[in-house]
Amino acid sequence: MAYELILTRTEGKVGIVTLNRPKQLNALNNELMDELGAALKAFDADENIGCMIVTGSEKAFAAGADIGAMATYTFSDVYKGDYITRNWETIRSIRKPVIAAVSGFALGGGCELAMMCDFIIAADNAKFGQPEVKLGIIPGAGGTQRLPRAVGKSKAMDLALTGRMMDATEAERSGLVSRVVPLDKLMEESLGAALMISDYSQLAVMAAKESVNRSFEGTLADGVMFERRMFHAMFATADQKEGMDAFVNKRKASFGNK
Ligand code: CAA
Repeated sequence: MAYELILTRTEGKVGIVTLNRPKQLNALNNELMDELGAALKAFDADENIGCMIVTGSEKAFAAGADIGAMATYTFSDVYKGDYITRNWETIRSIRKPVIAAVSGFALGGGCELAMMCDFIIAADNAKFGQPEVKLGIIPGAGGTQRLPRAVGKSKAMDLALTGRMMDATEAERSGLVSRVVPLDKLMEESLGAALMISDYSQLAVMAAKESVNRSFEGTLADGVMFERRMFHAMFATADQKEGMDAFVNKRKASFGNK
């Protein structure tokens, strides 16, 4: 499929999507989100891909939902058109891991898109924020829900109510991002993580992703029970036999995803 607002490529077993509206700081319009969803779904369905990376430009991962496009929307436009839910939520249905490699601005919907990914690796120039309040709206792609789960209520309130940005150091300190690296090492570091993940059993990786997501979306007791059942299920896979046999016999495991 030919895309206009994103670029796609593969490196080994890693599928990479680069948001590509640089002049608009990767403002996220419906067309771009349709393309992003389609690209991720295609990588998810590809047996040769084990992990994905979503990234932007040096200046902006994404500066938010497209304000120009939204400016004239009415309630009936967004409600009937199922704005955000219709295409942004596609990313939540992706079963293989998706890493957000963030440099520059990740604001509003850009921060929310990064948080919809499984983890965030940030360049040292990254800036995160939920500035929607300045536009007379609130975050609409999960920002009021995922941000407090990531950084706690106080900092999430601070960001959502003041609209201020936080830099990469603050984002790492508060748990929003997993690693901060120099800008020129962002892709190398993200690719290193993605290649490592894509070498593991896809079954184990998907089960781990599902289980961690449970901790975000349900109670602790439900989450632990879900994890336990998934853990038990791993013992039905050939990859478990292979991984443990390799360890016991001091050799490198070779997973067949079975
Ligand atoms: N939508 C549309 N266009 C945007 C945009 C956005 N979110 N962010 C930046 N742009 C455009 C600018 O309009 C500008 O276009 P022109 O050159 O045609 O004027 C271009 O990108 C470059 O931007 P700036 O000149 O403003 O660049 P800067 O370096 O001076 O400032 C910035 C960068 C601080 C990120 C600033 O652009 C900014 O504040 N952007 C808006 C951030 C924002 O409010 N995001 C939240 C959007 S609402 C949302 O996301 C809702 C939701 O939850 C789903």
